[in-house]
Amino acid sequence: MSHLTLFSPITLGPMALPNRIFMAPLTRCRAGEGNVPNELNAEYYAQRASAGLIISEATAVTPRGYGYPNTPGIHTASQVEGWRKVTEAVHAKGGHIYLQLWNVGRISHTVFQPNGELPIAPSSIQPKGKIFTGTGMEEYPTPRALETVEMPGIIAEYIHGAILAKEAGFDGVEIHNANGYLLDQFLRDGTNHRTDLYGGSVQNRARLTIEVTEAVVGVWGADRVGIRFSPSGVFNDMHDSNPLETFGYVLGELNRFGLAYAHITQVTAQDIAHGATGGVGPKELRPTWKGKIVSAGGFTLESGNAALTEGWADAIAFGVPFLSNPDLPERFSRNAELNKPDEATFYAPGPEGYTDYPFLG
Ligand code: PHB
Repeated sequence: MSHLTLFSPITLGPMALPNRIFMAPLTRCRAGEGNVPNELNAEYYAQRASAGLIISEATAVTPRGYGYPNTPGIHTASQVEGWRKVTEAVHAKGGHIYLQLWNVGRISHTVFQPNGELPIAPSSIQPKGKIFTGTGMEEYPTPRALETVEMPGIIAEYIHGAILAKEAGFDGVEIHNANGYLLDQFLRDGTNHRTDLYGGSVQNRARLTIEVTEAVVGVWGADRVGIRFSPSGVFNDMHDSNPLETFGYVLGELNRFGLAYAHITQVTAQDIAHGATGGVGPKELRPTWKGKIVSAGGFTLESGNAALTEGWADAIAFGVPFLSNPDLPERFSRNAELNKPDEATFYAPGPEGYTDYPFLG
């Protein structure tokens, strides 16, 4: 038991943050031409600068890392310039912002890939479900399994993204190892059927995660690096036969780096409705992780405070509530009513449903 609340300050690496109400990474599909962040994106993030920490929307570290239209990247000079507008606007309001480093792996389509190539994955296993290509819904292609000799190139792309994130003025980076994207595809046995050093045993399936972490820590220092996991998430056709063992192992190995935090999503009602059975989340993994835990997944003011009091989370990332309430910490502190999110504009272009949610009067 602790007496901490969402309003208690928290130290994250070298940063002193005013509260434990973080903004979760949210794909909003409003980047400009060339997957470059723009003034509107800067305004949106700056409006939310009262978050203890903003974690940016997932951002591709390589041209082959995309699987959605109009999502931002961090592999070109123009993207660095675009992101600098965002970080400067957030810092001018006294906020802090990490960039989330992303490669979608098999959750993609030839239309998003350089030269119309097949998406890449640990194994050539077609995801169930459909993908929005920008014009309509289509089956996912069966991805191409990466060769072992290609793995250093995958890691190099994360290093490049991490270096550019630093140039763009971020306060740190979060490695996206959740929600069925490339690193999660390697980690979980439903999507990794490899027989080389990167597949089979949990030690082998965790290898890429650990190598990417080591590489990114080499760029930023461990105290400015976080990593996100969704141990029991089923989104993007994910499955693991033993999430407690898999995620317990990888967190146990990552302890040696002394990262700023592990971001571990809890199982949501939506996950359960989609067949999640594991029930493995931050509470179950707390004993294996020596550092701070950020959690996310359907939290409210009450349940967030309860997680902090019970000691299985150190901060809570809010997604949809932050999307529709730019002043979420103030609303929480005053117990004010929250704006209702408009799902129709989550991924729509322009300011509507993006920068026009009202602040408290
Ligand atoms: C999405 O665009 O739907 C999306 C992106 C990244 C995630 C989850 C969902 O981690």
